[in-house]
Amino acid sequence: MKLQMTICELFQTDALAKAFSKVIKPPMIILFEGDLGSGKTTFIKSLVKFLGSNEVVTSPTFTLLNTYQGRFPIYHFDMYRLSSYEEALAVGFEEYFDKSRLDGVCLVEWPDNVEGLINDADFVVRIEKINDKTRKFTIEEFKK
Ligand SMILES: Nc1ncnc2c1ncn2[C@@H]1O[C@H](COP(=O)(O)OP(=O)(O)OP(=O)(O)O)[C@@H](O)[C@H]1O
Ligand SMILES: [Mg+2]
Repeated sequence: MKLQMTICELFQTDALAKAFSKVIKPPMIILFEGDLGSGKTTFIKSLVKFLGSNEVVTSPTFTLLNTYQGRFPIYHFDMYRLSSYEEALAVGFEEYFDKSRLDGVCLVEWPDNVEGLINDADFVVRIEKINDKTRKFTIEEFKK
């Protein structure tokens, strides 16, 4: 599956999240790439809503991980403040990325900061800022 060249304004970002949410089920790992302020957390807020949680989604910049309960557990990571695989191990993140034990879905911002930690993601969402209001989204299956 590859969904590409979708130029989204904010309300369309929500609609894209709704469509994407329909293919998400445990155990899945989804990576979110894009510059600061590109819209990773914003898209995840919509996704979490469509995955059946009405919890408030905030950026886990300082907590590193927020957990929400939707139709299944949703683990929202922000690796921005980590800078290596070893640091991710030190905070105990390894267990979440073992598919045989994963009881929910992992949504991961800044996965490149912990290279080597996640080896079998399912999808990569890339977001590119076009201007103040529009973003280009590319969603594709993760290639190992
Ligand atoms: N079409 C759009 N889709 C998503 N966000 C948009 C769009 N247009 C504007 N925005 C705005 O862009 C900002 C994106 O911020 P957000 O925190 O989601 O980015 P982020 O990629 O998670 O950044 P960080 O790397 O700091 O975690 C929000 O203020 C959001 O309202
Ligand atoms: Mg963010």
